This record gives sequence, structure tokens and C-alpha cells, in this order.
Amino acid sequence: MAVALAGCNGSEGGEQGATGEPRYLKAHSAQQLMAQVVQPTAEVFWNSAGYVMDETGEHDLTPTTDEGWQATRTAAATITEMGNLLMTPVYAEGRGADWIEFSRALVEVGQKAEEAAANRDSEAVFEVGGTMYNVCTACHQAYLPEEQAAAANASQQ
Ligand code: HEC
Repeated sequence: MAVALAGCNGSEGGEQGATGEPRYLKAHSAQQLMAQVVQPTAEVFWNSAGYVMDETGEHDLTPTTDEGWQATRTAAATITEMGNLLMTPVYAEGRGADWIEFSRALVEVGQKAEEAAANRDSEAVFEVGGTMYNVCTACHQAYLPEEQAAAANASQQ
């Protein structure tokens, strides 16, 4: 393994571009990243606060176990790093300057989300969840055709 890695990082080039910058591999399209990672992860966070009603009554979504809180925190951390990932050339190339702003906003809201989860502050988790939703929506309004934006934002509720 060490030998294989050393080979990849050889000064002849390998995984580095001619100018020395790292080369990212595009493993998911923006659509796939959203559908496979961002959306399900945000849902974990959103489903960690507030109440739901069903036929058996009202249920508090606040985690009740260490594992539950850890899942909330992990979701927040993942959202944070999704913001960083969206800023890389893999996803930012060809987009406007506001793409970076929206991605940065996702990092910042993700950090607040992680803090709320680390503090097990259910009210803060709920509140920052709302802010997170607004960050998602803002980028979709700028970058998706109107109809698609409505669909993406609806699937976030
Ligand atoms: C920096 C911009 C940006 C941010 C921030 C962003 N998205 Fe997206 N999202 C996109 C783009 C661009 C698409 C459309 C991708 C395509 O269809 O090519 C998309 C599409 C989607 C879709 C539709 C995927 C599908 O199956 O077609 C969902 C769901 C989604 N985003 C969820 C989220 C959630 C949840 C958040 C916030 C936690 C979020 N997005 C934040 C840019 C963003």
C-alpha cells in the first residue's frame, strides 16, 4: 500500500496536474451528490428536532440516545464538508461567484448545526435546521430552472 501511494505521488506527475495542483475525480454529478448525499444527510439533521404527528399522537424528534445525537452531529459535519466540496472546481467550475457564496453559507450553517448537536441543544438544532433549509433554497433558486427548484425544495420538507 505504501509503495502504491508513493508511486502515485511521484514527482513525474501521477495524481498531480502539470502545475502541481491536485486533480479531483468527479465521482458524482451535482444531481447525484444532492440526491445521494446532501438530501439524505440533511434529512437526518432535520429529523432530529421538532415534532411529528401520526395516528398515535405527537412525537418529539429530539434524539434520546448518545447514538442518536452522534448521528445528528455527523449529519451536520457532513453538510459542512459538502459545502467545502461544492466550492472545489469539481462543482464550482463554470458557475458564478455566488456559487461560492452559497457553498460557503452551507459550510457556515453546517458548523452552527454541528455546534448545536454537540451541545445537544434541541431548540438550536431546530432553528439552525430552518436556516439550513434557506441556504439550500437560495442556491436552488439561483441555479435550478424554476420548476426543478420547486421540486428540489419540496423534497426537503
Ligand atoms: C451551492 C449550490 C447548492 C446548494 C447550497 C444546495 N444545492 Fe441542492 N442542488 C444544486 C444544484 C445545482 C442542483 C441541480 C442538479 C442537477 O439537476 O443538475 C441541486 C439539486 C438538488 C436536489 C434534486 C436532486 C434530484 O434528484 O434531481 C435536491 C433534493 C437537493 N438539491 C437538495 C439540497 C439540500 C437538502 C441542500 C441543503 C442542505 C442543497 N440541496 C443545497 C445546488 C445546490
